[in-house]
Amino acid sequence: MGNLVDVSRLYIQAKAPGFYPRSGVVLGSGLGQLAEQLERPTILPYAELPHFPRPSVTGHVGNLVLGYLQGEPLAVLQGRAHLYEGNEPWKVAFPVRVLASMGIKHLVTTNAAGGVNTSFRTGDLMLISDHLNFFGGNPLFGPNDDRMGPRFPDLSAAYHPASNQRLMGIAKAQGIDLKQGIYAMLSGPSYETPAEIRALRALGADAVGMSTVPEVIAAAHMGVRVTAISCITNLAAGMGTQTLSHDEVKRVASQAARVVAALLKAFLPSLHQATDAAADH
Ligand code: HPA
Repeated sequence: MGNLVDVSRLYIQAKAPGFYPRSGVVLGSGLGQLAEQLERPTILPYAELPHFPRPSVTGHVGNLVLGYLQGEPLAVLQGRAHLYEGNEPWKVAFPVRVLASMGIKHLVTTNAAGGVNTSFRTGDLMLISDHLNFFGGNPLFGPNDDRMGPRFPDLSAAYHPASNQRLMGIAKAQGIDLKQGIYAMLSGPSYETPAEIRALRALGADAVGMSTVPEVIAAAHMGVRVTAISCITNLAAGMGTQTLSHDEVKRVASQAARVVAALLKAFLPSLHQATDAAADH
């Protein structure tokens, strides 16, 4: 698989010579706005990129955008492909592997999720402190490519604790009530049943969704630090009176996209400074 990653990376590097992203960002359902704020952008549709899976659902644009945010070189994945579209776990994680091979040190990933924690409200943002992998697979199935990472990677600090603290501080300074919690991933595409949501709550989940976990595992495998944010677009099945729908998920996520963009505009450059400071010592 390393060869496929190299093919894709070389293609991208030929389109944006001399561009070295410091961080990567994945923008989930309805959250694509930040990509439009990059300066001097190079926009590469996934359809053009070798081996990239193509998102087929609305709300996922499907562009890799390379550019600068507050002077910070970023690689932004605007939209993602999912398992439920028929992609293997490794394929879903492939774009993040390409960004890692381009040299990103940090990945910020976002998604739309259902709120399982009864104190959450629609429109809340939740920093993911850990995950429950309930989709029944793993992007690392198959032969391990030792050049990328170990056969048995440790995930105990996959959601980088110091960066999470930093983001909580930034949210507080911006007056954003950023929640924290555990994200459970199921495969979808059907939403969960009320019984499944009760079970997930008993098992410690605060939010539920159909993405993110494969890319976080692949990033951790390659030694990339991760910060992940869920936009709580609805109360999970059985908790509210509304019927769950993708249109409603997209509507709420696009309302929150502005706040997510404001948070990340402050957060991403601060990661760069933190890395430089660490390198100085
Ligand atoms: N369940 C799973 N995925 C989701 C949900 C949900 O309630 N809302 C947005 N993505």
